[in-house]
Amino acid sequence: MTSVHRDLDLRPREAAIDEAGHPLHLLSEEELRAHVAEVLERARRRSAGLTDAVDDADLVKQHSTLMSPLVWDLAHVGSQEEIWLVRDVGGRDPLRPDIDDLYDAFQHPRSTRPELPLLGPEEARRYVTEVRAKAMDVLERAALRGRDLTCHAFAFGMVAQHEQQHDETMLATHQLRRGDPVLHAPAPPPAVVHDLPEEVVVPAGPFAMGTSIEPWALDNEQPVHEVFVDTFALDTIPVTNGRYTEFVDDGGYTDPRWWSAAGWAYRSAHGITAPRFWRREDGQWWRIRFGVYEPVPPDEPVVHVSYYEAEAFAAWAGKRLPTEAEWEKAARYDPATGRSRRYPWGDDDPTSEHANLGQRHLRPAPVGAYPRGASPLGVHQLIGDVWEWTSSDFHPYPGFVAFPYREYSEVFFGSEYKVLRGGSFGSDAVAVRGTFRNWDFPLRRQIFAGFRCARDVRGGDAGV
Ligand SMILES: [Fe+2]
Repeated sequence: MTSVHRDLDLRPREAAIDEAGHPLHLLSEEELRAHVAEVLERARRRSAGLTDAVDDADLVKQHSTLMSPLVWDLAHVGSQEEIWLVRDVGGRDPLRPDIDDLYDAFQHPRSTRPELPLLGPEEARRYVTEVRAKAMDVLERAALRGRDLTCHAFAFGMVAQHEQQHDETMLATHQLRRGDPVLHAPAPPPAVVHDLPEEVVVPAGPFAMGTSIEPWALDNEQPVHEVFVDTFALDTIPVTNGRYTEFVDDGGYTDPRWWSAAGWAYRSAHGITAPRFWRREDGQWWRIRFGVYEPVPPDEPVVHVSYYEAEAFAAWAGKRLPTEAEWEKAARYDPATGRSRRYPWGDDDPTSEHANLGQRHLRPAPVGAYPRGASPLGVHQLIGDVWEWTSSDFHPYPGFVAFPYREYSEVFFGSEYKVLRGGSFGSDAVAVRGTFRNWDFPLRRQIFAGFRCARDVRGGDAGV
């Protein structure tokens, strides 16, 4: 019996979501249904915006072998929604069992998808609309407190996150697309705080990593577990274009001292000399962003760099990349209470005051634009703007259980992938949390990824 109390005493202290008013816990079942409907509708508005912005020829075209045709992503979103919500949760008859294979991401690599007999643009639009109508009918009738898959409407949250993740992928396809600009959005807010300290020191100690109570957390974020993190210093802000240009102009791309063996081999094989979409003209760096050609803005976080480039920059700067445990502690740990928050600013869902999320803007915001989103330790812009590469491989947490299927995370665990944290301007709030883990190959550059640096702090060196 004493072990129960001991377990309770030692249990990592996680955000008290109920006390903080997390909506999924406090909402009545009817309110939860309305919340789910709103989140699904938001995802669909975005999918429609991304696919209606171009003509049918552009929708079926492959803009890069790294990406699917946009029309594949659209019907794939519908196919997954049909499988999980209509068939599994709803127990309804399949609408289109004949296309399951076409839209199974594991059956067909992206480069081969244009050759498949895909649904055309009109057919795909009709299909996702029909699926959504049935899914909404299922939502009205489903019990949301029963089995794991429907508890707190998890399956609906998973499907909404999935659609938003594909929306971010489609946004990356738009970035790779050549032609006139078709996407438009207001500029992000300007910087309102300046002269932030370069680094924040995070004191040594344990913290609660991951979650066991966040209702829509995915399997790889679970369970909560205690991790001891030694004292380290983390950059207050992500590395900016201005700072990154210093590395480029200092010959960073041609000096093997800064690169890992794998990074140098990659750099040499591909002949890269700057972040993707950058070009040097008349002694100045320019970039193409969603069809707009513009000078590289020095105060924005650098984006479209691979893990290898991030690693090389950090070495050049006399630093290193943070581990994902370091990143999460800096983002969530509250020294005043000893517990981990849902987000750097607290337990409330993100608003436009906290972070640059949800494709409200088509670019990262300048550093210093979101003081209300800072963590208790004073680290800025951890959520939104750019995904941040960490030095960690993608591994399961102790006690990991695959849910609802192995292919969500488990088949990707290993040293092939690096973990990214925090989401980008192209990530929706439903698909980002302080615990959320993204992963990708270290050579990826088309994703909206940047980074910040960390360094070890030895005893007596903490007064940065
Ligand atoms: Fe998918």
